[in-house]
Amino acid sequence: MRILSGIQPSGKLHLGNYFGMMQPALHLQEKGEAYLFIANYHALTSVHDGARLKQDTWDVALDFLACGLDPERTVFFRQSDVPEVHELAWLLSIVTPMGLLERCHSYKDKVAKGIAPSHGLFAYPVLMAADILIYQSNIVPVGRDQKQHVEVTRDIAIKFNNEFGETFTIPQPSIQEEVAVVPGLDGQKMSKSYGNTIELFGDMKESKARIMKIVSDSKPLEEPKDPATCNIFALYKLFANEAQRAEMEANYRGGNYGYGHAKKALVAIFDEKFAPFRAKRAELQANPDYVEQVLRKGAERARAEASKTLDKARKAVGIA
Ligand code: ADP
Ligand code: TRP
Repeated sequence: MRILSGIQPSGKLHLGNYFGMMQPALHLQEKGEAYLFIANYHALTSVHDGARLKQDTWDVALDFLACGLDPERTVFFRQSDVPEVHELAWLLSIVTPMGLLERCHSYKDKVAKGIAPSHGLFAYPVLMAADILIYQSNIVPVGRDQKQHVEVTRDIAIKFNNEFGETFTIPQPSIQEEVAVVPGLDGQKMSKSYGNTIELFGDMKESKARIMKIVSDSKPLEEPKDPATCNIFALYKLFANEAQRAEMEANYRGGNYGYGHAKKALVAIFDEKFAPFRAKRAELQANPDYVEQVLRKGAERARAEASKTLDKARKAVGIA
C-alpha cells in the first residue's frame, strides 16, 4: 500500500504543526510504503520571495529529519526535484472541467484572504492531482481542508481512465480527524497568523518565557482546578505518557497546585522530549551535504516511479 503526503514549506514550525501534521506524517512510515515531499511548487502560489522559499524548504527538511523521519523507509524529497509532475499536470488539465476547479473552497478562501487570483492558484489542485497520481498512491493522509483536493484528484483520475484507458490508481483520502486542534498561548488555535505559537526549534529560553505566559483562569493556589478546561494541561497531555497525565490530573484536582507549577512541568517535558531532536537538528545543520544527499536520493527513488506513470499516460494520450 502506497501512502503519500505533501507539506508546504511555510516558515518556522510550531507545536501545532508538530502534533497536527508532523507526528501523523511520521507515523506513516509504520503503516506502509510512505512517500513524503516538500511542496515547494505549491508554496510558490503564495510566497514570492526566492530566498525565503529556499530557506523554508531547507528548514522543513531539517525539521522532519531531526524529528525522526527515516529516509531509508520513507521516500523523502522536494517536489521540484521531480519535474515529471508538470508534464503530467498538463495531461490531467486537458480532462479537468473548469467547473470542478471553480468549486474548490481553498481557492475561494485564499482569494478572499487577499492572495492574487493567479492561474497557478486556480490550477493548484491539478498539480496536486499530478503529485498524487504520478506515484499511483493508494492513501493520501491530509487535514480536513485538503479533502476536497483529493476528491478532485479522484474525479480527474476517473475521467482520464475513462477517456484514455486504465492509467491511474484511484486514491483514497484519509482524514486525520483524531488530531485535535493544539491551542496557542491565548487558547485560540495555535497559528503563525495569531502570534500565539511555541516554536519547535526556537531558542529554549524564549520558549520557556512564552510557556510562562500561557493564559489560565485566576484560581488561587489552594483551590482544586479542572484540567479539562486548561490550556496548560491541553499542551502537557500531548507530551505526557499515561502515568504522567494521570499524575498531573491528580495534581490539578487535589488543590495546592498552581498554574505556575503546571507551566514548569510543561517546560520540563517539552525540553526533555525535544532535547534529542534539537541535538539531531544541530548535527544535520552542520552537515548540509548529507541532507542534500538524502533529498537527492529520495528524488531518485521518486523519479523512477514517476517516469513509469508518465510514460503510461503519454502513451495513452498519443504523445509517445
Ligand atoms: P499556521 O496556522 O501556523 O499557518 P499551517 O496552516 O501552515 O499553520 O499548517 C500546516 C499544517 O499544520 C497543517 O496540516 C495543519 O493542519 C497543521 N496545524 C497547524 N496549526 C495546528 C494546530 N494548532 N493544531 C493542529 N494542527 C495544526
Ligand atoms: N496542498 C497541500 C497542503 O497545503 C500540500 C500538498 C501538495 C499535498 N501536494 C500534495 C498534500 C499531495 C497531499 C498530497 O497541505
